[in-house]
Amino acid sequence: MSVAQGMRCATVRLSNGLSIPILGLGTSSYGGYSHDAIVYALTECGVRHIDTAQQYDCEEKLNKSIRESGLPRSDLWLTNKLWPMDYGYQAAKKACLHSCALMGVEYFDLYLMHWPGSMKLGSSNREVRAETWRALEELYKEGVCRAIGVSNFKIHHLEQLEEDCNMVPHVNQVEYHPFQQPTHMIEYCHEKGIVFEGYCPLARGQVLSNPTVHQIAEKYGRTPAQICIRWSIQNGVVTIPKSVKKNRIKENCQVFGFQLEEADMAALGRLHDGRHVGWDPRDVE
Ligand SMILES: NC(=O)c1ccc[n+]([C@@H]2O[C@H](COP(=O)([O-])OP(=O)(O)OC[C@H]3O[C@@H](n4cnc5c(N)ncnc54)[C@H](OP(=O)(O)O)[C@@H]3O)[C@@H](O)[C@H]2O)c1
Repeated sequence: MSVAQGMRCATVRLSNGLSIPILGLGTSSYGGYSHDAIVYALTECGVRHIDTAQQYDCEEKLNKSIRESGLPRSDLWLTNKLWPMDYGYQAAKKACLHSCALMGVEYFDLYLMHWPGSMKLGSSNREVRAETWRALEELYKEGVCRAIGVSNFKIHHLEQLEEDCNMVPHVNQVEYHPFQQPTHMIEYCHEKGIVFEGYCPLARGQVLSNPTVHQIAEKYGRTPAQICIRWSIQNGVVTIPKSVKKNRIKENCQVFGFQLEEADMAALGRLHDGRHVGWDPRDVE
């Protein structure tokens, strides 16, 4: 099976029956944007899933890159995220449609509330989250978003959402790599039928110099990045490494032709030290 074929076969099923490709390409503003690398990922590496956000300021650039790839919209899984500045019922709906226009698409495959905190004065975070989520529920019913979810939500945020609203999120996207393994959240998501998606799978490069990762990489004749990405997808986690370099994107996609043995999965599982390389939403009420 070619890399591209392997990538297309590997998906995770959401509670509404849709299948999200287990491996995607990140596009955060951290580290910049490369048009050529995105086009290369889509045309040469079989990437069909792109993760972005209003906050990354690359929606128009992605519009151009996707167009240049020549791929039909229906072949792609596009995730976008709503920034707290646009939380609230009306603002959320407007921002989603604006993001669609910037990206030149009629719908998103997945639309997430980016962060549990709100920037709206005069209302509690909980009230604003619920009001915003009701807008996402409507966008879902209208077909503007084929799936809806949240990002950086802790268990108490999800519990409140369940009490206040109707739909359970399809996905929660949180930080996940060998140093940061939120086991309780993974169990909670599993119980509630929420797909757990991990971001920063390489801990922004920090995990790549770890001796255990190196040892395992040597054993399999793979790179440290491939070992970390393989570990994440082998745990069933939707995984979205980012690179703006063509050779690294190709390398990060070559994670389907091998399997890590149980002992090696366990050794990587023991690297958890609780560190965050991104935001820590623990104190958000
Ligand atoms: N929901 C959220 O709040 C949230 C937060 C953070 C991130 N995310 C999403 O998750 C994606 C990934 O996270 P991230 O970019 O922060 O971290 P990451 O994927 O863990 O690491 C990216 C860094 O690793 C380097 N890199 C990539 N592949 C490599 C390889 N094979 N060998 C050596 N270095 C490599 C990249 O540099 P080069 O580009 O120079 O290769 C970049 O500096 C983001 O793009 C974004 O879509 C979501």
